Amino acid sequence: MDKTFYITTPIYYPSGNWHLGHCYTTVICDAIARFKRMNGFDVFFLTGTDEHGQKIEKRAQETGKDIKLFVDELVDGLKEIWKTLDISYNKFIRTTDEEHIKSVQKIFKTLYDKGEIYKSEYSGWYCTPCEAFWTETQLKDGKCPDCGREVTKEKEESYFFRLSNYTDKILKFYEDNPDFLLPKARVNEMVNNFLKPGLTDLCVSRTSFKWGIPVTFDEKHIVYVWIDALSNYITALGYGTEDTTLFDKYWPADLHMMAKEIVRFHTIIWPALLMALDLPLPKQVYGHGWLLIGGDKLSKSKTSNIKTELVEPKALVNRYGTDAIRYFLLREIPFGNDGVYTNESLLTRINSDLANDLGNLVSRTTAMICQYFGGVLPQQSDLDETDKDIINMAEGLFNRVEKAIDSLNIPEALIEIFKTIQRANKYIDETSPWVLAKDESKKAKLGTVLYNLSETIRICAVMLKPFLTKAPIKILESFNIDAEKINDFESVKKFGYLKAGIIVEKCSNLFPRIDIKKELLEIEKITAKKEEKKAEIKMEEIKEEKKISQISIEDFAKVQLKVALILDCEKVLKSDKLLKLTVKIGEETRTIVSGIAKQYTPEEMKGKKVVVITNLKPVKLRGIESEGMILCAENSEGKLALITPETEIEDGSEIF
Ligand code: MSP
Repeated sequence: MDKTFYITTPIYYPSGNWHLGHCYTTVICDAIARFKRMNGFDVFFLTGTDEHGQKIEKRAQETGKDIKLFVDELVDGLKEIWKTLDISYNKFIRTTDEEHIKSVQKIFKTLYDKGEIYKSEYSGWYCTPCEAFWTETQLKDGKCPDCGREVTKEKEESYFFRLSNYTDKILKFYEDNPDFLLPKARVNEMVNNFLKPGLTDLCVSRTSFKWGIPVTFDEKHIVYVWIDALSNYITALGYGTEDTTLFDKYWPADLHMMAKEIVRFHTIIWPALLMALDLPLPKQVYGHGWLLIGGDKLSKSKTSNIKTELVEPKALVNRYGTDAIRYFLLREIPFGNDGVYTNESLLTRINSDLANDLGNLVSRTTAMICQYFGGVLPQQSDLDETDKDIINMAEGLFNRVEKAIDSLNIPEALIEIFKTIQRANKYIDETSPWVLAKDESKKAKLGTVLYNLSETIRICAVMLKPFLTKAPIKILESFNIDAEKINDFESVKKFGYLKAGIIVEKCSNLFPRIDIKKELLEIEKITAKKEEKKAEIKMEEIKEEKKISQISIEDFAKVQLKVALILDCEKVLKSDKLLKLTVKIGEETRTIVSGIAKQYTPEEMKGKKVVVITNLKPVKLRGIESEGMILCAENSEGKLALITPETEIEDGSEIF
């Protein structure tokens, strides 16, 4: 096979907080890789982890674990997510792989020997979460322009890459290769924000921490993590080792896929490095949009704001299945733009497209073949215009999907497949097989209709194989096709692959319909439970900290304590721990949720005077906003005792 296709995802930071946004890049790449494989390409699909850097070193140190063991566990977690999502990568590279380390060291030395890297001193700003250097003027309100977080002033001896030599060469490359960076709007961003002002030399080594690849000729330096990371695209193919077979075969990459915030690294720094190494540049870079939740990018830094616990990928797959999550990611987010995740949008997609359109078509058709033809596929006979219309649509599907994939418009590819599915559902309504079945003279027509439907379903199932990994197999198997053997698109270009007389089995419940209202309530409950658990863990941590640390009088003074009168109290629905209290604190009335239900009944609580922290940030527990905390003593067996004023005193009184 001479057509090769090399596709890469970025390599992931082992953050451990994997969310659906991370899965987006990888699921897109997987769908493209699967499509290309079926379309006759020899595909190499690379993904992996970006494990070095100050951020990881810090986090590992906080846990007290050995750094390598710390990252090993996280990497295993990521691989598990990829398994649940059926990601068909050919190689998973880790930047801690011995081979990668050696190759990066060679790359660094080569660049140094060629005079592309020189030693000097770095003085500027660094964003540790983004592992990015910034100049004073690039900062936005003194913060990282990419993520908005604090930056630190760094001054250290460093090696520099002569990036400034590449401004014109990269501009020229963009001009000569108009499709290099897509969507096209991103080109303007790169040109206006970075290239036109002129590139400055890039600091490519660090000395202030250790977790990285040592520079072989100056061991107190480690290679800047982005140089280490970007090199993965060639070291994974054996570049810099004795065996360069893969490199010779697959480089240059056909497609580097990533989200927009790291396009700069891939379309400026990476091409400059490759030019400096005299290597060909990747053919295309695609910077997709973000998956947003509640208007915020779903990212490591913001996950704490996310109330929807179910955006955790494994939890989502466990609840709704691999296909539903893959479908949502591939279909819902307008390609190149940002897309929004809500539980409701996910559930609506599952119901409308997967359960109603696809699931119904397959279950109705197979059920009718079983009912009217004893589970044996009938023959096709004379065709009328309606039959020809659906046949044409099904036969042309491959070309339309291929066109969409070639322009990297994955939602469009799925829209085409689902238009055909919808057409088939309409064909059922138009031909009314249940009416034909009542008239023996219409038996041949009924057979034709069911045959055409079966063939359309088969074609759609094969076309869906790159996108969904479970349902197409089940569908094809119900038509007695060994689905694992359908590894190309040859059979979909022509109608008529299915042979009349084969056994057809009923295929129902591919995607059970979800009662959205009920499910949203259920999600709320799960979220509330998790939040409760989190609050408990936090409380335990605080208690532990209290045991060892002393606070100043100023710290204590920050806590506002007041006497409160309990006006009303009731149990929190479906919770055996929580009571909902209405308390009066002087002039104001508040709601407080307290975990004392095991010890006190609502009746016992009413009329009591208690001590409340009044300036605690409100939290939602079981959907109820709790505006404070009631103080209790707790012994080692978990027995609770409310703290109450020892003599009568009005509510609202302050406590010092
Ligand atoms: N380690 C770097 C990449 C180095 S590549 C030489 C990195 N890693 S990451 O873990 O932060 O991100 C991995 C991928 O997930 C990137 O494509 C990133 O942009 C993407 N996403 C992270 N959050 C995302 C969303 N909310 N939405 C879509 N993609 C998101 O960056």
